[in-house]
Amino acid sequence: MSKATHEMSDRRPILILDSGVGGLTVLREVRFKLPFERLVYVIDDAGFPYGNWEEEPLKQRLVDLVGAFIERHDPKAILIACNTAFTLAGEALRSAFPDRTFVGTVPAIKPAAARTRSGLISVLATPGTVQRAYTRDLIAAHARDCHVRLVGSDQLAEMTEAHLRGDNLDDTDLLREIGGCFLEEGGRRTDIVVLACTHYPFLANRFREVAPWPVDWLDPAEAIARQLARVTQQRAEIRDASAKGESRPDRAILTSGCCAPVTERLLNGFGLAVCAD
Ligand code: DGL
Repeated sequence: MSKATHEMSDRRPILILDSGVGGLTVLREVRFKLPFERLVYVIDDAGFPYGNWEEEPLKQRLVDLVGAFIERHDPKAILIACNTAFTLAGEALRSAFPDRTFVGTVPAIKPAAARTRSGLISVLATPGTVQRAYTRDLIAAHARDCHVRLVGSDQLAEMTEAHLRGDNLDDTDLLREIGGCFLEEGGRRTDIVVLACTHYPFLANRFREVAPWPVDWLDPAEAIARQLARVTQQRAEIRDASAKGESRPDRAILTSGCCAPVTERLLNGFGLAVCAD
């Protein structure tokens, strides 16, 4: 399809990708900003969790996976709603598919540095994200004057999925995962914790309950959706509301090919119909 045709009637979907249900925290903000867009939510559950993967195989998997979905869905934009994936493969994806529009998710270190009063910030993420050169570069570029503590958790993404399936999470287990975020130094305390995994906002209320003191839990989802709206140059408020009715419902596709009933109910609750492809 030519570019001119796209601009006249661009009913192509926006592809949103994560390893699990974490990307839904971004998808719900996208809906507010771009209510008339068609969304295809890809859950790479066959690769979940991404947090402990070796870098090269994960990068290759992401390039192959995104390439296959570009082929099948011809999306107008691709939102990588996963810090672990985008901090690793953002550059590789952009160079593999130079004619495509990508929006990524990266740890919100810059806004945290601008907002902190104590100068003590923690970044709560997967082990992969805390090891990334990308994350270190963000700190060097935007938070030189702050003390940034990187806290990698290899349990929280799975705990989030369990929580959303209805399991009870134990306070002690939660505190073990987030305790490292809380630092007291020279009469100052951590005042911001960056939620640098898209799964974690689902647990923010549980984090508040077990935290040793109140902090600002920074969730970048709204800013990511704003960026997506900017790059797709959509003005949702002036779009024809009937446009949504013409299209198929928003879809969720799982790379494993199977979806537990409890997950399907969750996805349906976010307005997504689970599809094979
Ligand atoms: N939701 C993903 C992120 O933002 C990570 C979950 C996983 O470990 O697969 O980093």
